[in-house]
Amino acid sequence: MLMTQAVATNMKSCAEALADKIAARTARVGIVGLGYVGLPLAVEYAKAGFSVTGIDLIESKIERINAGDSYVQDVASSDVDALVSAGQLRATTDFSVIAELDTINICVPTPLRKTKDPDMSFIVSACTEMAKYFHAGMLVILESTTYPGTTEEVVLPMLARPDLEVGRDFFLCFSPERVDPGNPKFQTRNIPKVVGGITPACTEMGACFYRQALDHVVPVSSTQVAEMVKLLENTFRMINIGLVNELAVMCDRMGINIWEVIDAAATKPFGFMPFYPGPGLGGHCIPIDPFYLSWKTRQSGIEARFIELAGYVNGQMPHFVVEKVQNALNESRLAVKGSRIHILGVAYKRDIDDVRESPALDIIHLLQRRGATVTFSDPYVPSIRVEDQLLMASDPDQAIPEADCTVVITDHSDVDYGLVVARSRLVVDTRNALRGITSEKITRL
Ligand SMILES: NC(=O)c1ccc[n+]([C@@H]2O[C@H](COP(=O)([O-])OP(=O)(O)OC[C@H]3O[C@@H](n4cnc5c(N)ncnc54)[C@H](O)[C@@H]3O)[C@@H](O)[C@H]2O)c1
Repeated sequence: MLMTQAVATNMKSCAEALADKIAARTARVGIVGLGYVGLPLAVEYAKAGFSVTGIDLIESKIERINAGDSYVQDVASSDVDALVSAGQLRATTDFSVIAELDTINICVPTPLRKTKDPDMSFIVSACTEMAKYFHAGMLVILESTTYPGTTEEVVLPMLARPDLEVGRDFFLCFSPERVDPGNPKFQTRNIPKVVGGITPACTEMGACFYRQALDHVVPVSSTQVAEMVKLLENTFRMINIGLVNELAVMCDRMGINIWEVIDAAATKPFGFMPFYPGPGLGGHCIPIDPFYLSWKTRQSGIEARFIELAGYVNGQMPHFVVEKVQNALNESRLAVKGSRIHILGVAYKRDIDDVRESPALDIIHLLQRRGATVTFSDPYVPSIRVEDQLLMASDPDQAIPEADCTVVITDHSDVDYGLVVARSRLVVDTRNALRGITSEKITRL
């Protein structure tokens, strides 16, 4: 007599049954948190042939996905539409679907509190809901950036049950997310994926899962190593940007062009990697993640001095930019107070629409506090919130000629910078967007 599938599955170990489903792409994949990280991942797995269910708390995001409409710049609506129509991708606010899923990737936010302590509340609330429907034979992978130890110390106790043994009855991993929004060359699929599990069987299951949809998988020995990999990468960037920002301030004092220095240094074919100064750090990662590490090490009595120092130097850059604006206006016998200043670009980096932690917000606030009237334009951003005010983007064709000074904060590609200089009375360039343009109107960082 033929066995029913349920009986056959019970006879296999959980690991074998889940690995078989993953390899056959019949595993039902869940992604919790459908933002800049979660939505591209959901789309990649749906494209690889898996049935994917996205879970988020925000009803409007769910409606847009189910209507085939993407709200993430790097994900085409045509892809979402095709996958939803084909029944490969769906989204819901209802966590009870987890009872039917085989895998879950957690991609919820991990911000800092005002005190620079990690805010674990999103992970905790997602795991609280997940735990209600969690069952044997599941693979759970935390992708939210966090401090070393989170997967084992926070997530595992929330999922563990006396009847379920990790590494045997279910599988738990951490895998750092390395997505670089707006990068046309490296996207979810071709960025190597590091994964580490609570046990070797967990690592193996996580690696097996990622191999189905991503080009390169890098297994490591533990969740702590995987968590630390992400913090090393982002701390490396943050500290090097801090170094070059400090050098920019020094070069300014000495009348040396920092951009020319970096370009020349970058001709060295070994042992040097260029980093560039700017108006300050922005985004969800570089200004935040290193403080996860410093918070954790402080508990062991170790001060993360490089991180604190780079954080201080980078945090001073918006003030330095405001001083540059003041100095540029002084040349025309103007003061920031009473001047009209146009901020060109408010996204935290080139060619994206994300303003989270953008230094433009600090700079606008500082200029307003000094009495300036500030307008902004950005090809990707229609409005911003600065403290409690909602600012709508201006038409740059009108706002730039009317301003006493234009300040380039984001060097978006599709801006005619020659025209910007021609139409401006003064320009402060914090990104070297005006390289190659010579004009007495320009003040460079
Ligand atoms: N954006 C990046 O470039 C980037 C890069 C690498 C790593 N990361 C990390 O990835 C994680 C996610 O970042 P993101 O940029 O995608 O954030 P995001 O804010 O764009 O998306 C997070 C999503 O999670 C949802 N959410 C919040 N709490 C939830 C809950 N309890 N249950 C279900 N959904 C919930 C939010 O509504 C939101 O849609 C963070 O830890 C971040 O540090 C982000």
